[in-house]
Amino acid sequence: MRHAVVMAGGSGTRLWPLSRAARPKQLLDVIQDDTGDGAHSLLAEAFARLEAVLPAERIWVCTAARYGAQVQAALPRLRPDRLVLEPVARDTANAVGLAAALVAEADPDAELAVVSADHVIRPVERFAAALTTAFDALAARPRALVTLGIRPTAPATGFGYVRRGAAIEVPGVAEAAAFKEKPDRATAEGYLASGEYLWNSGMFVWRARTVLDALADHLPATAAGLDRVVAAAAGPGRDAVLAEVFPALPKTSVDYAVLEPAATEPGRVLVADLDVDWLDVGSWPALAQTLAAADGNAVGGLAVTLDSAGNIVFSDDPEHLVALVGVRDSVVVATADVTMVCPVSDAERVKQLLGAVEERH
Ligand code: GDD
Ligand code: MG
Repeated sequence: MRHAVVMAGGSGTRLWPLSRAARPKQLLDVIQDDTGDGAHSLLAEAFARLEAVLPAERIWVCTAARYGAQVQAALPRLRPDRLVLEPVARDTANAVGLAAALVAEADPDAELAVVSADHVIRPVERFAAALTTAFDALAARPRALVTLGIRPTAPATGFGYVRRGAAIEVPGVAEAAAFKEKPDRATAEGYLASGEYLWNSGMFVWRARTVLDALADHLPATAAGLDRVVAAAAGPGRDAVLAEVFPALPKTSVDYAVLEPAATEPGRVLVADLDVDWLDVGSWPALAQTLAAADGNAVGGLAVTLDSAGNIVFSDDPEHLVALVGVRDSVVVATADVTMVCPVSDAERVKQLLGAVEERH
């Protein structure tokens, strides 16, 4: 049967100080509802998007144990036994592996979609159609690793790139001729100019067994660790094995560990077109695209601007006013305990800033 798992354990460091270790971006209520009377989280949106394709009982969420209670509270329709908790975050190769192992235990022939929790995607109908196409591709190519690919609009270095090869028998799906995770700028520019590459959306469809086999091939320490986990009976015994095994697994993403090497095998990786408005809400300029436009600035929360433009202004406290005069092209974020200011052009360096804060504060 078809299942899906939302990867929701990232820490969202480039959206600091809004996104915090204790409450990362996917759990923040930052997406304005169309009705205008409230906001919800990226995670809630990701779950609702999957409900267009699957019943809630086959939607799983994988996150770090520290976020478990917040995730359950944000998702009233998530079945408690579909919440997969990692003792610590070891990046997506291990998270995907753990989720796949538990899904395969519940349903040995499961076809599994893996989706991110940090995207804004519109319209839902086209996402649902692409996901269904990707599942359909498994009927034609049962051992395939299918990625959903997006037409690139810029030489972004924070994404993976897939080279589209020969079309397969399922319309909208092609073989992936190459996969490169987070290339450098010059490489990304070459990919964009070639017109042959798509962005990896970070969303995949495969049989749970297939991705476990791929981990056994390419990341054997993870595969061996996960075998030990599922060999233990579910319950406190398994939790103890997980707590012992998981922190020692090699920290790497599924893109580096599985997709890059698997794409060198002809026909192993497929790419299904995902033709949607898509935003990876990874940084302040990206989040700004979801905020209200006011006098040439992107504004979230209480703000007053005078002779100011090109700014991203955010206050997460309804009583805390941020006021600007004569300010250009800056990010100004106020939270209860932190005020952060930087030029928009340095927004990617917020992660670095957070590192410095953690050292000195
Ligand atoms: N459960 C769990 N555990 N989830 C995680 C972990 C983890 O250790 N680390 C990250 N995630 C979740 C994030 O919350 C997010 O929903 C998703 O996995 C992807 O992780 P990111 O850290 O945001 O990855 P990325 O944006 O750098 O790169 C990925 O996404 C790009 C598109 O947005 C890659 O797949 C790229 O190839 C892709 O282009
Ligand atoms: Mg991301």
